[in-house]
Amino acid sequence: MEQKRYGHFDDLHREYVITDPQTPWPWINYLGNEDFFSLISNTAGGYSFYKDAKFRRITRYRYNNVPMDNGGRYFYLKDGDTVWNPGWKPCKTPLDFYECRHGMSYTRITGRKNGVEASVLFFVPLKKWAEVQKLTLTNQSNEVKHLKLFSFEEWCLWNAATDMENFQRNFSTGEVEIEDSTIYHKTEYRERRNHYAFYHVNTPIQGFDTDRESFIGLYNEFADPQAVMEGKPRNSHAHGWSPIASHYIEVTLQPGESKDFVFLLGYVENEQDQKFAAPQVINKEKAHALIAELNTTEKVDKAFAELCDYWDKLLNIYQVKTANDKLDRMVNIWNQYQCMVTFNFSRSASFFESGIGRGMGFRDSNQDLVGFVHQIPSRARQRIIDIASTQFPDGGCYHQYQPLTKRGNNDIGGGFNDDPCWLIFGTVAYIKETGDFSILDEMVPFDNQPGSEVTLFEHLKISMDHVINNLGPHMLPLIGRADWNDCLNLNCFSWDPNESFQTTENVSEGTKAESLMIAGLFVVTAKDYVALCQKMGKAAEAERMQKAIDAMIEAVKKHGWDGEWYLRAYDFYGRKIGSNECDEGKIFIESQGWCTMAEIGADDGMVAKSLDSCKKYLECEHGMVLNNPAFTKYIYEYGEISSYPEGYKENAGIFCHNNPWVIIGECIAGRGNDAWSHYAKILPSYVEEKYQTLHKVEPYVNCQMVAGKDAFRPGEGKNSWLTGTAAWMWYTVSEFILGIKPDYDGIRIDPCLPETAGDYTVSRKFREADYDITIHPNGSQKGVKQIVLDGQAIDGTVIPYSKGHHVVEVTM
Ligand code: GLC
Ligand code: GLC
Repeated sequence: MEQKRYGHFDDLHREYVITDPQTPWPWINYLGNEDFFSLISNTAGGYSFYKDAKFRRITRYRYNNVPMDNGGRYFYLKDGDTVWNPGWKPCKTPLDFYECRHGMSYTRITGRKNGVEASVLFFVPLKKWAEVQKLTLTNQSNEVKHLKLFSFEEWCLWNAATDMENFQRNFSTGEVEIEDSTIYHKTEYRERRNHYAFYHVNTPIQGFDTDRESFIGLYNEFADPQAVMEGKPRNSHAHGWSPIASHYIEVTLQPGESKDFVFLLGYVENEQDQKFAAPQVINKEKAHALIAELNTTEKVDKAFAELCDYWDKLLNIYQVKTANDKLDRMVNIWNQYQCMVTFNFSRSASFFESGIGRGMGFRDSNQDLVGFVHQIPSRARQRIIDIASTQFPDGGCYHQYQPLTKRGNNDIGGGFNDDPCWLIFGTVAYIKETGDFSILDEMVPFDNQPGSEVTLFEHLKISMDHVINNLGPHMLPLIGRADWNDCLNLNCFSWDPNESFQTTENVSEGTKAESLMIAGLFVVTAKDYVALCQKMGKAAEAERMQKAIDAMIEAVKKHGWDGEWYLRAYDFYGRKIGSNECDEGKIFIESQGWCTMAEIGADDGMVAKSLDSCKKYLECEHGMVLNNPAFTKYIYEYGEISSYPEGYKENAGIFCHNNPWVIIGECIAGRGNDAWSHYAKILPSYVEEKYQTLHKVEPYVNCQMVAGKDAFRPGEGKNSWLTGTAAWMWYTVSEFILGIKPDYDGIRIDPCLPETAGDYTVSRKFREADYDITIHPNGSQKGVKQIVLDGQAIDGTVIPYSKGHHVVEVTM
């Protein structure tokens, strides 16, 4: 396939520059960092929401539409008979110039047509509940230009799920108010909602529309709204049906003249007793105040500078300088950025996650922490408490919770037996980064029930116990509904297409289904737990858990080894999964990753054999597949994994999330060449160079899944952005490849590199210190010979923590 290029990296500005609007798939970005969020594609498609993409959706979006990515914030410019949009869509009028720059929490889209340039900067200012759209119109021609400008947003009736289905009600509830240049959306405000949204522009308007049908026309489309085509707003007032917000502005530009317009999409909450200014009239005080803060170019530019400064500071916490700019740009910019996005959204809202399907995942969010904790530890701390609060007294937990309510999601329930371990994983990462052991004393409830609080440490303990208390016949962990692999549903047994694989357990009484992935995960996290207990002086507890670790290791060696690799699981009946004896799915990646990270049987050569088997059976041009050979038919004892056609998703797709596990296994084993070659295969900057067309999705971030070697089109990516891959790629490169590992007492230096690696420098802020660390690999893959701290050689590989600036030289 011809690999056309659609853009390139601009490292200096930390941007990805898209130069052709017709990307192989919408290439999106995220705006907003805390409460108010937007998704924006390279043609300005997407939507906004407050905190929760399901329950508080501000603007409407239709997924999987025709054409793709239909609906967004659109500016229509009518210049004589030509109607065009700066982002090409929806009119698709050919532009003289198009460019979209996706940056750190902002996007700038520029279009030029017939001597007019329209450039829009989209961002959500820090701490503000609003999306700014600063539109700059410039007349680059020699004539006076008389332009008609129409803005456009379509309101969502708040609950994104019912908005798309409950039309018998929805078509009658819509309400708006119009005041000067602001259009207010107040559907359901009359009853239980205490929030409204608004769309404002900082200039007098010559007309408006708030009713979709009046603006677009029933038989027209976003591409040719009647009001725009005729150059005449209808000044419509929505009553029910589909409320929208469109401003109409007449603009005259002299040759060379430029004008800014600040559009603001805002969200407001009012106290119950302050909802109304008069009967039926909403209290607009807070909207006025918000507008006043962002109603000039100067104010907006200042807010934008603050945002850029915020990202400078965040990214400067960890910066690497190597001779490889493909590595540097991922480590210094895009990987860290994606980690922030996954921390914020978990798996809820992307162009593959509809925002109505899933809340915050227990295991997902814990893993996301590892990519985020160095950025804003205080938010990570809160997240850990929120997650732990959804746990049950026996250590089990809700698989997901809703961000708005922070309550466990009853529709999904619990029973995913890997979940509890991840709480250790996330918490330990937090303490190592911050040195803040006090989090362990926080009182945290069960299932959010007041009065049920115990310390967070107690939650960690019962998490471990949950594994120990749920062992199967081989003394390996029972899998429950599924482990990390949501699709290995060994107790499901479903013949009913209307049943969810995730939530159905048709039989589990008497199950023998055990997971080697959880076994490895347990050993890794329990080792961390033991070290934590020792640190806290809890010797007896450390000893108790060490025994459990030893027993688990024995069980894996005895019942979990297939000769050349680790088994994956035992099924309901106690039969092997992921064994050479199986017809299909002979080897799985997850247990290789976790058992090698746990170093189970390393002395007996198991680790090395397992890693070699990954190379031999799982690796292909685009990464390592999840299992091999792929399943060619539905196996009802296995569940969803076998529901996917070969090479996709959990059935032998390259599930990028788990590649780093094997890479870390390689690093722990000291095999730097192999670690690097696996890593580079799924590193976006490498993929970007070779496969923009084939890969299809955004080339600046990892996607969840790349079609595997058994697929129809190996190398095609899907499910971009929201994936544990972000945090795992970060953890892998920052700590295991480049080798800068936060630890309780300082920073441990332990790189694992390809032998071709040259000298490199990492500047790392850590607690109240900053370190400039230069590593001299000298052709070695692993093994630190000497560390010199501020001119003094030190013993061992941990730089002891002390405040201030330090210079570190490391010789391998
Ligand atoms: C998805 C889920 C994650 C799961 C993975 C493998 O990425 O978000 O929780 O572990 O799929 O099934
Ligand atoms: C499907 C997907 C899996 C995801 C799960 C969660 O099973 O294959 O990746 O984790 O749904 O809803």
